[in-house]
Amino acid sequence: MEKTFDLIVSHAKKTGFVFQGSEIYGGLSNTWDFGPYGVMLKDHIKRAWQKKFIQEDPNNVEIQAAILMNPRVWEASGHLAGFSDPLMDCKQCKTRHRADHLIVNFTNGEVNPEGWSNEQMEQFITEHHIPCPDCGAHDFTSIRKFNLMFKTFMGTLEDAKSTVYLRPETAQGMFVDFKNVQRAYRKKLPFGIGQIGKSFRNEITPGNFIFRTREFEQMEMEFFCQPGTDDDWFPYWRQFCMDWILSLGGNAENLRFRDHTPEELSFYSKGTTDIEYKFPWGWGELWGIADRTDYDLSQHMKFSGENLEYLDPVTNEKYVPYCVEPAVGVERLFFMFFTDAYDEETLASGDTRIVMHFHPVLAPVKAAILPLRKTYSDLAKEIRKDLSYDFECEYDESGSIGKRYRRQDEIGTPFCITVDEQTTVDGTVTIRYRDTMEQERLTVEEVRAKINQAIRF
Ligand code: GAP
Repeated sequence: MEKTFDLIVSHAKKTGFVFQGSEIYGGLSNTWDFGPYGVMLKDHIKRAWQKKFIQEDPNNVEIQAAILMNPRVWEASGHLAGFSDPLMDCKQCKTRHRADHLIVNFTNGEVNPEGWSNEQMEQFITEHHIPCPDCGAHDFTSIRKFNLMFKTFMGTLEDAKSTVYLRPETAQGMFVDFKNVQRAYRKKLPFGIGQIGKSFRNEITPGNFIFRTREFEQMEMEFFCQPGTDDDWFPYWRQFCMDWILSLGGNAENLRFRDHTPEELSFYSKGTTDIEYKFPWGWGELWGIADRTDYDLSQHMKFSGENLEYLDPVTNEKYVPYCVEPAVGVERLFFMFFTDAYDEETLASGDTRIVMHFHPVLAPVKAAILPLRKTYSDLAKEIRKDLSYDFECEYDESGSIGKRYRRQDEIGTPFCITVDEQTTVDGTVTIRYRDTMEQERLTVEEVRAKINQAIRF
């Protein structure tokens, strides 16, 4: 079975993981709302990140910085001057396009223009006579730079002095708070500051469902270390990210590392590797791991006038720490785990079942409590209440037991608990395993222990 883009998107919508944003008003282009199962999946992804990147790591801590930051932050970081996309307008149909995307799409991804100058891109588009994807004409304006930051105003005046920006990345919060965290928590290098939060980019060509949106959540960590040791920490974090994905059931065949070529490296980066995933349309960036050197802290020292150097208690030296950054978008991980989990199986009966093979840690609902007949409803509801103290449960009494199993398979619930006559006699229930469809009889306490074990991470 081919996991096409349409198949995955339609399953996400049909099962209520993701809805079109503002749908009853005709939508707002490329905005998506996450339904209850979608929120649960996102929360489990975030919790799994927090657990491994922060909680279990003795060096790392987490912050929540404000989304609106002093505009000088974006001058220092280079976003005001340089965070822009190369745009061309089609003079015939007046549509606007990213020059780099025109090239990538025209060559089916065989030519990657990252790092090219505007002149190089214009020349390639002219020489290859690349047409406008909307009207087919070849009549473009020259490239203009378009800044991707969303602007708004703070306070009652709408003038240049009150302009603020919605942050385009969470990372700058960690650089700006570096000294506060280091001092208040008496942190010694190496240590990381992580953050989960919304970022905003006025993307020119958002698309591919939740892959590229204008509002998204990032999970980023800035790992500060002594200059020179970044050469060890960079491969360490790169592998750590890949292992994290694999430990949550990511399919190794759909994942690869891709090192940035010197031409495509960001100006602040000494080395960058993307973990790429084979999305339904082809390979795309999932996670970026960059060696940002001392660029950001040095810039903030320059622009704020604050000394952000670190006094090494061992060598008594003062220096600006280097920084290795693993940065990922929650929605891209969502898309990846959702696509990998999707499966259609032909059963012995000849029926097809759609099943989401989520790792139990990620599955939105861990257990569905299903009374075999309505006479067992009260008992089943009690069991649901009791088990939901430990993990997410759902209660369902409508339709045949077979239909209820199918509904749970479609949202990836790893365990179905059936309450029947025997339960009223000895307190045992039937547990049915999603992937094998095998069943066994256990007490409620044994079920609780089994599920708690399966979701330990
Ligand atoms: N602080 C570095 C940084 O933000 P990035 O490569 O621009 O680097 C990091 O973004 C990650 O954030 C990407 O690998 C991707 O997972 C996610 N991301 C970036 N732009 C996005 C967008 N428009 N929609 C959804 N996710 C996005």
